[in-house]
Amino acid sequence: MINIYILNGPNLNLLGKREPNIYGSNTIKDLEILCNNYAKNNDIKIKFRQTNSESTLVELIQDAIDNADAVIINAAALTHTSIAILDALNCFQGYVVEVHISDISKREDFRKFSYVSLRADSVIVGQGLDGYIQAMDKIVLESSKIRDKG
Ligand code: DQA
Repeated sequence: MINIYILNGPNLNLLGKREPNIYGSNTIKDLEILCNNYAKNNDIKIKFRQTNSESTLVELIQDAIDNADAVIINAAALTHTSIAILDALNCFQGYVVEVHISDISKREDFRKFSYVSLRADSVIVGQGLDGYIQAMDKIVLESSKIRDKG
């Protein structure tokens, strides 16, 4: 069974209320349920977390080092600022998918650079909450490739 950590950064607890024209009307709870349902049907184990704290996000990534095969991370605003998040991700050996609900390449200039992208194996932007499902799909695909290699 693949073990995936799904980590969400600052202000994503406000999904549904927060700029719904950009992030949609679903809540973080809706997202967690969506991810849990997909995981249950695809033989995946997930740990789903949201934190507003950079240090907690670093600790969650450190926790993934020994306990997860893959990390799906939406570091939110920390994407654009945090070398600490990048350093933590660089200590993780497994597959990393960076997800953003909105298309950060089409927004303000300050969102165009991502520290997380410097480590991510795959990046999914602008797909709404479905981006998280696409990320899990990608990890399943990659892990079967690794298994095929024996
Ligand atoms: C976000 C994009 C970031 O630029 C922003 O700071 C967020 C959310 C997204 O999911 O589209 O908080 O990561």
